[in-house]
Order: sequence, then structure tokens, then C-alpha cells
Amino acid sequence: MVKLHEMILRDAHQSMLATRMRTEDMLPIADKLDQVGFFALEVWGGATFDVSIRYLNQDPWERIRLLKKALPNTPTQMLERAMNIVAYRNFPDDAVKKFIFLSKKNGVDNFRIFDALNDLRNMEIPMKAVKENGGHVQACLSYTISPVHTVDYFVNRFIKLSKMGADSLCIKDMAGMITPQRAYDIVNGCKNAGIKLEIDLHSHCTSGMTGMAYQRAVEAGIDILDTAMSPISGGTAAPPTESIVAALKNTEWDTHYDLELLIEIRKYFLKIWEKYRHLHRFNALKVDPSVTLHQVPGGMLSNLIFQLEEQGANDKYREILAETERVRGELGYPPLVTPTSQVVGVQSVMNVLHGRYKVITKETKEYCRGMYGKSPAPIKPEIMKKVLGPKWKEEIIDCRPSDLLKPMWDKCKSELKEQEDIEITDENVMTYLLYPQVGLKFLNKKAKSEFKSDELPLSINHPLTRGMVKQSFPEYKQIWLEDKPPEQRSGPAEIPTEFEVEVDGEPFEVKVKPTGGFLVAGKNENSNEKTKNIEGGIKSNMQGTILKIKTKLGEKISQGDVIATIEAMKMEQEIKADKAGTIKEIFVKEGDSVSTGDILMQVL
Ligand code: CO
Repeated sequence: MVKLHEMILRDAHQSMLATRMRTEDMLPIADKLDQVGFFALEVWGGATFDVSIRYLNQDPWERIRLLKKALPNTPTQMLERAMNIVAYRNFPDDAVKKFIFLSKKNGVDNFRIFDALNDLRNMEIPMKAVKENGGHVQACLSYTISPVHTVDYFVNRFIKLSKMGADSLCIKDMAGMITPQRAYDIVNGCKNAGIKLEIDLHSHCTSGMTGMAYQRAVEAGIDILDTAMSPISGGTAAPPTESIVAALKNTEWDTHYDLELLIEIRKYFLKIWEKYRHLHRFNALKVDPSVTLHQVPGGMLSNLIFQLEEQGANDKYREILAETERVRGELGYPPLVTPTSQVVGVQSVMNVLHGRYKVITKETKEYCRGMYGKSPAPIKPEIMKKVLGPKWKEEIIDCRPSDLLKPMWDKCKSELKEQEDIEITDENVMTYLLYPQVGLKFLNKKAKSEFKSDELPLSINHPLTRGMVKQSFPEYKQIWLEDKPPEQRSGPAEIPTEFEVEVDGEPFEVKVKPTGGFLVAGKNENSNEKTKNIEGGIKSNMQGTILKIKTKLGEKISQGDVIATIEAMKMEQEIKADKAGTIKEIFVKEGDSVSTGDILMQVL
């Protein structure tokens, strides 16, 4: 008998609806979902925490409490990013332990724990904390393809994870690129090695091979498969639950789930899918077998294309793909998942645009220092030298990254106490600890929800619905502009210029500038100065947001001095002066958005 692990309330809408499903759209169907008999229901963690406070103005802690109450018979699961918790950086041990305690207390039963680099040291603390609080640990290995990621690599690590106290194991194929043979070999390898724990296979339909991979995994004795109810399945999401149930019916692997009940649940989610239609993306529904060729996950691929467009270098697409493969090898074959996908992707773009390792992101430096954990294979010494300088050996750490961090809990708690009108609960302190800015805005009741459930679906004329249709049918832009007489046309201002895009399941806010025909006025009053060519102007070599101005008016600087830092797609980069002189003028301030070629300062 095979069990299914239902993804509809977390991974499925994170993959296909930008993680936007609201709590009130989950609760009405919880009772029916609870009757199916799933191994577990994934309902929390991943990007759901961030998106709830950032875009939905909903308390993630309340969501898990309500869901647990509505799902008395089914274990609830969260996806936990080891020392990154539900954010994107390493946290100290006290924060991780407290988070696990609070999650269990509020209603999480099963914790799926993974580390981007499969560095087991990063998994120890959260795994132990789950056990101490009486939860179920599902220990994951991030799946990828490389010369070091052999069948033995996975089997040996799963043996170690079993010894570390895991209750079940999971192959986390986040990019949907596992082949049928690979799935068979890993599961079979684990079973032959005498691993007794139940094994779960998590995958996405991206490559088109997943149904076959599931069948082979079943033949090798897999215990659990991850699926999502059909209305939010396929494409970049998991295979459809009902189809897998039907496929295994009357075989030795029969799930014995009630298909009629599942079809009833399906009807409900069809309505939910429709409700969020402004988030539908044709490309997310399509099979993309290219992932099998270059091993770059779909989410990361769209990120790369997007960055190239931003930097005006669309013609470099193939070059970047080849560079990504090369950089990944040089950096020791990290699995490409948040946050390592960003490290490798952005560095590859920089290498192609500015020369190999001429511009190095802060994140690449941190990665090479070992601040994310140990790379699967050693990083090439010549790359270490380029990234960290000739004394690179002194820069690297060999301890667990979180060993270097100071405890955070007490400090965050006293910081929050200084705020007026915020109730000091452990859950609120944790929200603030994880997301100091966005969390504080939410706790101060200054967050706004994009939409309430009853405002959805958006009308066909809403800019976001138009944006969706325009992406799928570019010619629609014209139809909308031309279906009214000229005097009634509201013109291009109605075409959205600010979007939120999902990269690897994480939300980004981006501004898009029209490239021809019309111009949208810049928000910055200095926008004219910023784009003019002036004597001694220091230009930005990328599009992004100014994080810090590292100089001041009248200061004398030398060539190569860092004058500002800029953030592009979550990566922090330094902008260096290309000449020596005195700062005569600063055209930007911290927080400003700039484009490639914008003049930031004048040095004479
Ligand atoms: Co997934």
C-alpha cells in the first residue's frame, strides 16, 4: 500500500498561484480533506509565512492553529529550511529551537527539514528540537544531478539521517528532474541498505517525467508519494492526487482512498483555481524538458531570463546557461534551490556580463567562506583565490555556520517591547525575529492585504488580470488599447508597470519600464540627472535598489573604493569608483531604484 502526501495547501499554490491562497479558502474544505486518510497534509512553512505577512495581511500562526483544529485526523506538515527556518539566512540555535517549539505548540505535527547543501550539520538542531517537542521529523535530501550526487551519496546520507533520529525520509526533487531510473535506484538502494524508515518522494511535473518516476519509485518500494489535488497540479506543481489514486487502484500498491470523495474535493478546488485567475501563468502549466539538459530548475531559469532582460542582454541566454553549469561545478555542485540557486545564477550572469569573477556578489563570497554550509564537492582553489583573495584559506570557516551567530531571542523580544501597541506573545516575537521589517509592519497593523477573498476573482479589466492575459497572448495589449475610440483610451498608464514575480517560489517586487512608444515618468525627481551623461559620472552596472551609500559629498575617493551597495534580485553587490577624485554630487539615496547606466554620483 502506498500513501499519498497532499500538497494542495502549501507547495501546490506556492508553485502555481504565487503562494497566495488565503486561510479562508482552505478552511471550508478541511473537513473533507481530513477524511481521505492522507499520510499528511502539507499546510505551512516554505514561502507561506513570508507571503502571509507581506501580501495577505494574515497571521501565519493563526492559519496553522485554525487548520490543525479543522484537521483532527490528519497530521499537518510544514516545510522547514533547517537553520534558515522559513526565511533566507542562517539563524542561531536559540531561534531555531524556539521556532520549532512554537510551531509544534500551534499545530504542526510533521516537520519536513531540508538543507540546500545537504549539510547534515545544519539539520541537527532542528531535528533534535522536533524530537524534544514530540513531533515527527521527515528528514530530506535535496535532489540534484552531478558527479558527486551518486546513488551512494543519497543512500549514505539517508542512513546517517536515520541515525540522527528521523521518523521518515524524503527525496526532495524540487526541480522535478528525477528520472524513472534514478528514482528506482535511490529507493531500491535505501531498501537494500536496510533502511526501515518510510521513504517519501517529492517531485514536480516540470520535466514531464514525474509520472514515470513515481511508477518506478513504487516498484522499488517507495512508501509515500507527494501529490496535489488535480486543479492545482501538473506543470510546475506535483502530479495529480486523483490520477495517482486511480493508477494504483487494484494493484498491490492501492492507496484505498475514496475516489468519489476526492472528486468532490476537486470541485471545490476548481473554484479556488478560478478565484485566483489573475495569477495563472501559461508557462507554469507547460512541460519544460530543458531542465533535463542543463539541470537548471524552471524557477531559476525564469529568474535568469528576467535578469538578462533587466541588464539588456537577452542575446546572452545560451552563454549564461553554459556559464551556470560551469559556475555550479566550480563551486562544488550545490543543488540549485533557495538560496544556492540565487548565488550560482547571479554570479553566472555577472561573469558573462562583466568577465569571469570580475564582479563578485557578497553572497558568492559568503558561500565560498562556508557561511551556507559545506559544498557537496570542494570549491576549486583557483576560484577561491579569485573570490576571497590570495589569503583565502584564512577566510574560510570549517565550523557549522550558526556556531558563529549570537543568540537572538532575548534581544528581539526586548526590541519588540519598545514598540507601542504590539502584543508581546512568543509568536509575535518570532514573526519579528524572522522578518524584522515586514514582520514589524504586519505587527504594527500597517500591512495591507492585496485582496480579500471576497474581492476575487478580479474582473477581466483589472490590470493584474490583463497582465496575466498579456503574458499569455502578447497581442492582447493592442486589442485593449484599440477597442475604444482614441479620446476614450486611457493609454499606456493602465498597463501595469509594477509586478510581483515569483522566483523559485519567493516573491520579488519588480518594476518594468516600457521600452518604446511611450514613457512612464520616473518616480525619482533626479531621474533626469540619473540618465544623462555627465563628466565624472559613476554609472550603475546593474538594475536594482540602492542599499547603502558608502561615501559623502566632498569626500576624496580612490579608484576601486566602494561608493555604494546595490541589491539586485536579493543579491548584494558593491559599486566601485572607476576613477579617483572628489564626490561632487550624489544623485541617489538609499532605497532608490536604479537602472543599468543610471548615473549615481559625480566624481571630479
Ligand atoms: Co516542492
